[in-house]
Amino acid sequence: MSYNNILVEEKKPIATVIINRPNKLNALNKETIQELHQAFSFLEKDKEVKVILLTGSGEKAFVAGADISEFANFSVEEGGKLAAEGQELLFNLIENLSKPVIAAVNGFALGGGLELAMACHFRVASHNARMGLPEVSLGVIPGYGGTQRLPQLIGKGRALELIMTAGMIDVERALDYGLINHVISQEELLPFCEKLADKISKNSSVAIGHAIKAVNAGFKHDSNGYAAEIEAFGACFGTADFKEGTNAFLEKRKADFPGE
Ligand code: COA
Repeated sequence: MSYNNILVEEKKPIATVIINRPNKLNALNKETIQELHQAFSFLEKDKEVKVILLTGSGEKAFVAGADISEFANFSVEEGGKLAAEGQELLFNLIENLSKPVIAAVNGFALGGGLELAMACHFRVASHNARMGLPEVSLGVIPGYGGTQRLPQLIGKGRALELIMTAGMIDVERALDYGLINHVISQEELLPFCEKLADKISKNSSVAIGHAIKAVNAGFKHDSNGYAAEIEAFGACFGTADFKEGTNAFLEKRKADFPGE
């Protein structure tokens, strides 16, 4: 199958999915999310594929977020739909996939990019990687599960600090926080992940599928934080702060938030 925005390379039993919009720092536009949905659905059915690696093309970015140019003029309804569809089509799909998905974070993983890495079963990063959820600097909140998965991975206080400051952390901090499992040089990142994948592929894929299900079940709560995130994300699209934040990014200037 051929795609416009991603590449899929197979060295069975390992498949590598590469997000391939390096000029836009691999930002996730609608078509990329749809293509990733197709690729992961297809790979899940392929019996010869045991482990999937996910990375970004180029040396600068894993994914620098959702494509801001695509949603800057969205209404509250369109904003909510963007988050709900994205969560269902891609982020929840990866998290609940029966096969291991490892994020090879080769550079910036910001906003939707960090959310994508967090939806994977675990993360390995290269030294140059930088991670953060900068959404509030745009007048919006994370909408692809970031408000839920970041506190699961690093704890509530650290997650709220990172979300509120819209800051970025380097790999030393990310390792210390448990957000990533290993730090590797950029050249060795994929070979290292392939070695890990190879080791995993020798184990029972049925048992691994059950282990993923069991671990995920422990994080499912009665009150649905993901639904709350979708509603709050949509509400941001009706604010003057959101208009200012996204316009400022696209006009390459600093935002001056009116606070409403
Ligand atoms: N959406 C759309 N386009 C994006 C993007 C995003 N999330 N992130 C980067 N790009 C585009 C830039 O607009 C630029 O396009 P252009 O060359 O056509 O102008 C290109 O990718 C390169 O990015 P640039 O900002 O010039 O690179 P940089 O090295 O100066 O800065 C970042 C790198 C990651 C710090 C900066 O791109 C950034 O802050 N991106 C947005 C991160 C973000 O807020 N993500 C959350 C979105 S909800």
